[in-house]
Amino acid sequence: MPRGVFITLEGLDGSGKTTQIKRLAAWLTRRGQQPILLRQPGGTAIGDRIREILLDSRSRSLDPMTEMALMFGDRAQAIAEVIQPALDAGKVVVCDRFTDSTEAYQGGGRRLGSEVVLELHRQLCRGLQPDLTLLLLPGFAVSLARARNRNQRAEAETGRDENRFETERDAFYRRVWEKYREIAAREPERVVLIEGDLSIDEVHEQIIESVSERILSLAQGR
Ligand code: TYD
Repeated sequence: MPRGVFITLEGLDGSGKTTQIKRLAAWLTRRGQQPILLRQPGGTAIGDRIREILLDSRSRSLDPMTEMALMFGDRAQAIAEVIQPALDAGKVVVCDRFTDSTEAYQGGGRRLGSEVVLELHRQLCRGLQPDLTLLLLPGFAVSLARARNRNQRAEAETGRDENRFETERDAFYRRVWEKYREIAAREPERVVLIEGDLSIDEVHEQIIESVSERILSLAQGR
């Protein structure tokens, strides 16, 4: 059975993931791949409904354990419906956030710890690991300022309030940021850390370099 290639992008809100995913997708398409793109939470009809509960600022009473469980509910559905079938068909899947987000935000930010997140991942996601994770982690102050700007703008444009996470305090984001660094240090083979305050083009170049080196060779070797 051919197995495709699974790439995830991670980072704080406002780290530029969305822009980079678009550029990576265009690059892959020019090379004859037809990448499957999705984001978490969301990406399936059920996942989009879960996303509404998770991101709406009115979900104030959401318990951290419920939040984590919903993230995994969304993910299990995306794996069953989209990710695993695409990988089985030999495709390249590019996912905007995956279990590292749950470890960083719920494990770190909400202080639930890594252990429970990794255990749920083993059970509910059958341990499915990305072949490559691109972690965009500009300096903490830069990330924070971008996230706040972006979300105010998005709400003004779309009228949709998806700001529940953005109203978190700086200390929350500091813990998320630190947990991401911990994950990168623990799994250097899988996670490529793209740090510093780089331009969009510079980040794109680094992404392409990692994808060419690690992934296309992997795909050819299979
Ligand atoms: P989204 O609007 O998709 O933001 P971004 O473009 O930054 O990814 O919102 C996703 C939010 O959900 C973001 O604040 C991170 C959070 N999140 C978690 O807390 N845990 C998770 O497992 C995932 C996938 C996302």
